[in-house]
Amino acid sequence: MSDFRSVEGKVAIVTGSARGIGKGIAETLASEGVHVVLADLRELVHETCKEINEKYPKSNCYSVELDVSDEMAVKALVEGAVEKFGKLDIMANNAGMHLATGKVWETEESKLDRILAVNFKGEFFGCKYAAIQMIKQKSGTIVNTGSFFGKVGHAESASYGASKGAVHTMTQSLALELAPYNVNVNALCPGLAASEMHWAFVEADAKALGITFDEMKEKELDEIPLHRYGYGKDMAGAIMWLATPSGEYVTGQLINVNGGLDFT
Ligand SMILES: NC(=O)c1ccc[n+]([C@@H]2O[C@H](COP(=O)([O-])OP(=O)(O)OC[C@H]3O[C@@H](n4cnc5c(N)ncnc54)[C@H](O)[C@@H]3O)[C@@H](O)[C@H]2O)c1
Repeated sequence: MSDFRSVEGKVAIVTGSARGIGKGIAETLASEGVHVVLADLRELVHETCKEINEKYPKSNCYSVELDVSDEMAVKALVEGAVEKFGKLDIMANNAGMHLATGKVWETEESKLDRILAVNFKGEFFGCKYAAIQMIKQKSGTIVNTGSFFGKVGHAESASYGASKGAVHTMTQSLALELAPYNVNVNALCPGLAASEMHWAFVEADAKALGITFDEMKEKELDEIPLHRYGYGKDMAGAIMWLATPSGEYVTGQLINVNGGLDFT
């Protein structure tokens, strides 16, 4: 195959990859021959990495336990990947969290600080150190994880939504800054994705409406035109496109990968 769509032999870092969307991204990239560095706050990341290495021996993966809000840890993560593989082709800043903060006037400062530190600063640091390396290489792709909630305000989601809105505008700024270096920068905006994070929302919403977990899931699925939840593999499809010549002309975009849930 020409390099138009092939990612084989590329090197990627995927943050927040112990479980959920990030795990799906890491696994799909590995299945295509990408060497993946998995990074996560949870110890589980090592088990996830082991699973992927066993399943896809062509891909040479390793795992790092870190908190993405720690700038020096993210610097070491990027430098470690470059030391091992000699380059960094794909930076997928996916680690994120949600905390129930309530309405704006109910929000505790400590929760606001934590959400911004992980969701915004964590992705910012990933961008910063990937950019330093990709400028030297004059190649690479950075893919941030944004959200539908970062495009439109939702009640009781001001802190989370603002953290993702900040990711969106940072993505556009960095895309302009890195364009002269042949590096594209985009954000993917999942809608409703099958993950532990999302199941916690489903459980809370079901409780609030007095219906069962499964009834709540059916209600959500009815709102998604493609009638299924999103998975890491769906995000990986977009990442692989952006990381090859087939998608290199796309930069500074906030790309919905959401089954048609929303056209904002
Ligand atoms: N699930 C959805 O419906 C949905 C929708 C829109 C956006 N997102 C975004 O997608 C991304 C992945 O979320 P998910 O649904 O897979 O959630 P998840 O909770 O299942 O997985 C998130 C992963 O990130 C890790 N993580 C959290 N904080 C971290 C930190 N400080 N440092 C390192 N790792 C950390 C967690 O340990 C976990 O493994 C997040 O950025 C989230 O905001 C999810």
